[in-house]
Amino acid sequence: MHHFVYKDGVLHGEEVNLEVLAAEVGTPFYCYSEATLRRHLRIFRKAFDDVDALIAYSIKANSNVAVIKILAEEGAGADVVSGGELKRARAAGIPAAKIVFSGVGKTHQELALALDEGIYQFNVESEPELDALNEIALSKAMRAPIAFRVNPDVKAGGHEKISTGKREDKFGIPWTRSRDLYSRASSMKGIDVKGVDIHIGSQISELAPFEAAFKKTAELVTTLRADGCVIERVDLGGGLGIPYGPNAIDPPHPDEYANMIKRIAAPLNVQLILEPGRMIVGNAGVLISRVIYMKDGDEKRFLIIDAGMNDLLRPALYDAYHDILPVSERTVGSACQDYDVVGPICETGDRFVRTHALPEMNNGDLVAIMSTGAYGAVQTSEYNSRPLIPEVLVSGALRAIIRVRPTIDDMLMRERMPSWLNDGRGVDPQPGRE
Ligand code: LLP
Repeated sequence: MHHFVYKDGVLHGEEVNLEVLAAEVGTPFYCYSEATLRRHLRIFRKAFDDVDALIAYSIKANSNVAVIKILAEEGAGADVVSGGELKRARAAGIPAAKIVFSGVGKTHQELALALDEGIYQFNVESEPELDALNEIALSKAMRAPIAFRVNPDVKAGGHEKISTGKREDKFGIPWTRSRDLYSRASSMKGIDVKGVDIHIGSQISELAPFEAAFKKTAELVTTLRADGCVIERVDLGGGLGIPYGPNAIDPPHPDEYANMIKRIAAPLNVQLILEPGRMIVGNAGVLISRVIYMKDGDEKRFLIIDAGMNDLLRPALYDAYHDILPVSERTVGSACQDYDVVGPICETGDRFVRTHALPEMNNGDLVAIMSTGAYGAVQTSEYNSRPLIPEVLVSGALRAIIRVRPTIDDMLMRERMPSWLNDGRGVDPQPGRE
């Protein structure tokens, strides 16, 4: 459930009229609803409130500091995958003691930064990473709390590009090596073994793959304990899907997901860590864009809108479906037309949806691309020299820009002309010095 609904014939974000907002901010822009963010986090937390569980919001889904602050206020911790995300989580007020650090390629600087911050857990994904972390921790006279991310070899996820738990994927340590690696890690002076971690993929809309992976994990915990390891936490990653449109399969409710987990985890007596991303922020955001031209091709009607694949990459990258609604509601029964909704980028893949039924649209009309709060703004680029688009937060009748749109001049300011292409007199900035 979300708070983007029609009122008096116009789509609103909570109490804010999105036509008025579009006139103020300029299109395209992302709009997030604070009430929806809070609601989703509360639903998720409530599902686990009778057990010891850390809800570590996966920052990568939407890393705007205002969004993170709202979730921090609701008690969320954070799952981060870079030094940048760690800094964002801290800046938004998430205590280091609630932060877990995942990712296959954490650099030595990032490991050192996270140790200095005193984070709760490193989810280690390889033996060389373990060795590096041990050495860095020893050099600081510290012990790094770790879980290994173990690859359970389970197929899951809405698209092959977002499935992570198969043997051939780059993630985690191989299941077959886990006992050896746990025993090695347990003897390291700079390492404090705390738990087991898995994450099998994203936009998973049924319980079965989760259940298969969690059962395997529970068995591993029992085996590792018998081997003498202390396992006090199990991190089950993220991945719960959301409904992306009226015809989409409804993913399980967080309560069903939680009940299944609790059933499997109960005999283990461990703290649970969950890393939801999409489920918290996905339906809390929309992308508002204006029709530049309606163009009739030989075979198709195109709605050319001012948002492009650089502003929302999901359809081009994963063939993802997002519902598209007119911001100005049309009277019930008004005749619909089929449109291909496309962006202005010079790529055929710059298409949001094929053959989508919409009421008759005209140049200048606004559309809302729904369910774009997760993996939307965070995956934007400046391709075709298009400035990153703003993010706006609404809360009741309040609205605020939480990421500003740079000007083209701002973009050009980041670039430098080397002296030999200029007049030969300037001093070139040295790599690593600027
Ligand atoms: N934990 C780890 C270790 C992850 O890699 C991810 C997502 C999550 C948690 C959160 O998963 P979620 O609850 O959001 O499904 N860009 C893609 C999705 C990539 C997911 C990457 N990892 C998309 O737009 O569909």
